Amino acid sequence: MAGVTAIRVRDYSPAMDAAWAVGLLDEMFGGRLQARRGQLIDALGVPGLVAVDDADHRLGMLMYQRVASECELVAIAASRGRHGVGTALLEALQARLADGDRIWLVTTNDNLDALRFYQRRGFSLCALRAGAVDDSRRRLKPSISLTGAYGIPLRDELELELHTSRKL
Ligand SMILES: CC(C)(COP(=O)(O)OP(=O)(O)OC[C@H]1O[C@@H](n2cnc3c(N)ncnc32)[C@H](O)[C@@H]1OP(=O)(O)O)[C@@H](O)C(=O)NCCC(=O)NCCS
Repeated sequence: MAGVTAIRVRDYSPAMDAAWAVGLLDEMFGGRLQARRGQLIDALGVPGLVAVDDADHRLGMLMYQRVASECELVAIAASRGRHGVGTALLEALQARLADGDRIWLVTTNDNLDALRFYQRRGFSLCALRAGAVDDSRRRLKPSISLTGAYGIPLRDELELELHTSRKL
């Protein structure tokens, strides 16, 4: 990552990127199947974006799902944080959407870094589902750990939204 002069964002290509993306999703989220809103979604079954450096090394990914004017941000991950990768991916997603489209996403109560990241970029909280992660662990994905980031018990889903006309 040292010496990165520019971050470019291109479309995710299943043929080129899947093996790398599976590894990143395993490391960050415990696999490509994400539990949210009481359902599992395959983060690699939807379109996505890949951030690369000036030597074409992959730096991060963002997967999304559009339904009319709504766009779910299914997953976003940077292989190394605080280097501008997440912001570049989010800006590239916004550039692909129409003014006024709504981006929404689900995160968890322990993910303070993500809550900070999104709110610093104009997102606001729009829902809390207390105990939803506990339910997913019971019904959908037993591998979800009991303890999340910063040693915080992993229990709840939080939903955030951004209307794309708002500046990042
Ligand atoms: C959430 C996540 C995608 C953010 O990506 P990121 O690449 O770290 O984001 P950025 O680097 O663009 O921005 C993060 C901060 O680093 C700062 N930053 C960027 N480049 C920097 C640099 N060279 N030096 C110091 N700080 C820098 C940004 O200004 C930003 O701070 P701010 O919010 O105060 O403006 C990343 O933390 C991640 O992969 N988390 C794990 C997976 C995850 O939880 N995903 C979200 C699930 S809901």
